[in-house]
Amino acid sequence: MKDIFIVANWKANKTDEETVDWLKKFRELIISKNISLEHKKVVICPSYHLLPVAYDYIKKNNVGVDIGSQDISQFDKGAYTGEVPVSLILNYISFSIIGHSERRKYFKEDDEILQKKVSMALSSDKLPIYCVENSNMLIPEGVKIVAYEPVEAIGSGMPDDPRNADKIAFEIKRKSTDIHVLYGGSVDSSNVGRFTKIENIDGVLVGGASLDPLEFTKIVENS
Ligand code: PGA
Repeated sequence: MKDIFIVANWKANKTDEETVDWLKKFRELIISKNISLEHKKVVICPSYHLLPVAYDYIKKNNVGVDIGSQDISQFDKGAYTGEVPVSLILNYISFSIIGHSERRKYFKEDDEILQKKVSMALSSDKLPIYCVENSNMLIPEGVKIVAYEPVEAIGSGMPDDPRNADKIAFEIKRKSTDIHVLYGGSVDSSNVGRFTKIENIDGVLVGGASLDPLEFTKIVENS
């Protein structure tokens, strides 16, 4: 049985209180519905300011999920106003989403910047979850988890055809050994199983549908 990654990308949402509330509800639902997380790697990616809050709650209450950041600075610590280098959040994260299409679009992040971000993450033993929109995009060396996210599927309610996602995942896996490919774009509890049952797909990256703990728990359940 393969292990499935279920990654929640909360994007620019949630306060401290909402984060604790979400984690509390998620934990209660997993317990009350008796959902096994044995072959499921659940990763929550909140905004930077929520990392300590999420970390403390997860640790104190044994929530059984990992934490990732939604991005990482290309720089190490120093005079880079507004940046968050990996060395400052080392304790909180195990993963970092890098190269999300929103970062590429709104923050003009290109291959060169993204390669630096991947190097920063890897130098601190954090696993990049590297987003690409198709199988032709550059995947920096050392990346082991790739998220295939076609832009037209993101936030549109129109996920990719699972057969196409399978084909793209196959093409990505052909480029290098040991790559896990996740699918992202309008994943919800009703369609997640169509993606996770595919041989070449090792999990999902969930945006909008991860904001509600009940819906996200159903995604975990149905994956
Ligand atoms: P969505 O977002 O699930 O809201 O489509 C996915 C993503 O942007 O990672």
